Amino acid sequence: MAALEGRVCVITGAGNGIGRHHALLFAREGAHVVVNDVGGQGDGTGSDATAAQRVVDEILAAGGTAVASTDSVASWDGARRIVDTAVDTFGDLHVVVNNAGILRDRTIVNMTEEDFDSVVAVHLKGTLNVTRWAASYWRDRTKAGETADRAIVNTSSAAGLHGSAGQANYAAAKAGIAAMTIVAGRELPRYGARANCIAPVARTRLTSGLPAIGELMNKPTFDPEHVSPLVAALAAADCPFNGQVFSVMGASVGIYAGWSIAEEVDHEERWTVAELIRAMDKLPRHIKVNTQLAKLAEASK
Ligand SMILES: NC(=O)c1ccc[n+]([C@@H]2O[C@H](COP(=O)([O-])OP(=O)(O)OC[C@H]3O[C@@H](n4cnc5c(N)ncnc54)[C@H](O)[C@@H]3O)[C@@H](O)[C@H]2O)c1
Repeated sequence: MAALEGRVCVITGAGNGIGRHHALLFAREGAHVVVNDVGGQGDGTGSDATAAQRVVDEILAAGGTAVASTDSVASWDGARRIVDTAVDTFGDLHVVVNNAGILRDRTIVNMTEEDFDSVVAVHLKGTLNVTRWAASYWRDRTKAGETADRAIVNTSSAAGLHGSAGQANYAAAKAGIAAMTIVAGRELPRYGARANCIAPVARTRLTSGLPAIGELMNKPTFDPEHVSPLVAALAAADCPFNGQVFSVMGASVGIYAGWSIAEEVDHEERWTVAELIRAMDKLPRHIKVNTQLAKLAEASK
């Protein structure tokens, strides 16, 4: 049997890039797919209703099942309509893949309120919005005595997990998404739902123009279709993972250790400031961690 046979799946931002490949793979794996996308530019301006429909047409032409949704994930009511589209069209909802995203890269000193708010609205609030309406639908189904395996798959980023100069808005939103995944992983199992998160690296319109890595992205390792099998595995009914963050770059898939206390200094009573400054001198100034950014830097040498 196909991995996602009969599962009703919402994929946000599925009109382009990584999300489009998720939608195509999910449909090939037997899912009924809600292809959500506003069809905007990479910076979130504009809209084009045909973006979602084009992917739906591709799925239908290949014999799959899909419906288009053009609501913005950044809208509270729009997110509710995205969830309603799944239930009204396919009779249920099993999986939400929160993937929609935009970029407005600026250094902190040059950041405008609009740059910050728009990026946080799509990534962080958008992830909460769709998750919130899916969760309330799942709570209602659970109260009605129905059980099913349900899943959230969120999209974070190395920028959010490790920081990235010029992306205070995006990195903060993506860090928040990783944290929200852990929260959802604790709150949603009572409704039969798991929540996991991915940090992908892939060649899309968001990355191919980046000065430092744009050219490197032409390598087959960065084909965006490499990301989708992990998302499908996390969406599958028998997936054993919950509350985890995964890295994916090419065919390399990893699981993050998350924030973890590396070394400590202790005292029997409250520190004086002077004592603590002396004691903290023993702590390392830098903790080496295994990051996708380090792998990218290595690959670009
Ligand atoms: N490409 C990478 O290397 C990379 C790395 C880390 C994280 N990500 C994340 O992966 C996700 C997909 O990015 P991508 O690289 O495929 O970019 P992309 O621009 O190709 O696709 C993003 C899609 O989201 C849609 N979208 C934007 N705002 C929306 C909204 N309010 N409601 C619904 N849809 C909306 C866009 O129209 C677009 O089709 C994003 O969350 C991004 O931050 C990508």
